[in-house]
Amino acid sequence: MGHVRCGLLPVAVALLALTLPGCVPRVADNEQVSPGETIVLRFSHVVADNTPKGWAARRFAALVHERTGGRVEVQVFPNSTLYKDGEEIDALRAGAVHFIAPTTSKISQMFPEWQLFDLPYAFESVEQVHRAVDGALGERLYRQLEAQGMKALAFWDNGFKQMTNSVRPLVWPGDFRGLRFRVQINSPLLEAQFRALGAEPRPLLFNEVYAALAASTVDGQENTMSNTYSQGFYKVQRYMTVSNHGYMGYVVLTNAAFWESLPPDIRRVLEETMAEVTRLEREKALAMNRRDFEEMKKGNRLAIHLQTEEERASWRRALEPVYREFVARVGSEPLALLEELRRSS
Ligand code: LMR
Repeated sequence: MGHVRCGLLPVAVALLALTLPGCVPRVADNEQVSPGETIVLRFSHVVADNTPKGWAARRFAALVHERTGGRVEVQVFPNSTLYKDGEEIDALRAGAVHFIAPTTSKISQMFPEWQLFDLPYAFESVEQVHRAVDGALGERLYRQLEAQGMKALAFWDNGFKQMTNSVRPLVWPGDFRGLRFRVQINSPLLEAQFRALGAEPRPLLFNEVYAALAASTVDGQENTMSNTYSQGFYKVQRYMTVSNHGYMGYVVLTNAAFWESLPPDIRRVLEETMAEVTRLEREKALAMNRRDFEEMKKGNRLAIHLQTEEERASWRRALEPVYREFVARVGSEPLALLEELRRSS
């Protein structure tokens, strides 16, 4: 193997990368990238391959390999095999990984306005989410990432979340009382959501959820059809409410300093490929969530309840405090932008 380039970051980071297998790090210097040199980039995420994000990361890697004639190798690490929840962002900042795609929820401790995507019933469709991301709101939110040395390369969908639990059907808000729900880490707004419903939020890493559900150390969780199916959560839960109460999507992040240090021709291929994969990912996300819902229906393990309009109105009312908490935390501007978007929909 010729030179393997692990990242193009300053010395401290290059030293850190020395601890990673298969890497001969070199200090950033674009002039030194010779045509024969392989650039190895790592993409770490926490879900299965057979999910929207898992599929898109693989597709991105394959297309980049093809389009750079093998000069750029994107190594994909799914299922928390390289970094787990809570480790990804530090690793990105240190230059030990080059692409991550956390949910918007998981960056929201650091960037509280990103909690907007978690507001209950905030979006009526994924198209509305895309309009938010591609418009004034997105611009505002992306700027905040840049101020911390991160660059957003794309926004990928998963889809809308559903509630599952092993104790009782969740029809009315009162049904949540006293139940323990897993929430994503670093997501104060999601904790507030469960508290508003009278439940106890329990932050857990994604890779810990199955075991916690199986051992009944938590009673339930909220997730998309694709995560609930691909992680097998449905096997250790009894009830699902199709509530579509919240959106789950990902921001594909890279380290801005690393990005700037890439040769411009490589950057262009990565950028164009990312844009193309993002278009495909959005279609795939819809299809995979539908497919996985059908699989779970067929499996007959879960009692599935489809939320009615009346129940939805009642959940909305119960969840109003979550909006107040959001405004108390970040001010009213993001919500005003969201309302403007909704009015124009
Ligand atoms: C979760 O923790 O439930 C999700 O964030 C996992 C993911 O990345 O889709």
